Amino acid sequence: MTMEELKKYDGRGEDGRVCLAVLNKVYDVSKGYRFYGPNGPYSTFAGRDATRALATFDVNAAKDDYDDYSNLTPSERSSVEEWQMQLSERYDYVGKLIRPGEDPEEEEEPEDNKEKE
Ligand code: HEM
Repeated sequence: MTMEELKKYDGRGEDGRVCLAVLNKVYDVSKGYRFYGPNGPYSTFAGRDATRALATFDVNAAKDDYDDYSNLTPSERSSVEEWQMQLSERYDYVGKLIRPGEDPEEEEEPEDNKEKE
């Protein structure tokens, strides 16, 4: 999924679907609509990249554009990894967030293909 596609899932569409991205992974958080829906406390994450927001505990730091988070501090990084773990236990993984210019075909590769990492 690209950032453009992700934006459609902000909970305002007809289907009410809400997705967010954390560390390159997109999760369907629709069942957490009361948190991420338009009137929820974390509505700024809806249809966006929430990595930096979760890393820095700043709900206004969610990004509309692809976020290069190589500059997170080690503690921010571990904090967002912990969030990701919690979200992955609660919500369905939808797919990878595709970087601008990245080959979308890579999305289809199996999860256990570690060649590129
Ligand atoms: C005054 C500050 C805050 C309060 C009082 C607060 C309160 C809460 C509470 C009570 C829950 C659990 C709700 C439940 O499971 O029923 C929750 C969940 C959560 N909070 Fe906060 N929070 C605060 C700030 C933040 C900030 C700054 C962030 C991130 C930037 C954040 C991100 C989250 C997330 C991602 C969840 C999980 C929602 C889910 O289950 O999908 N919170 N918060």
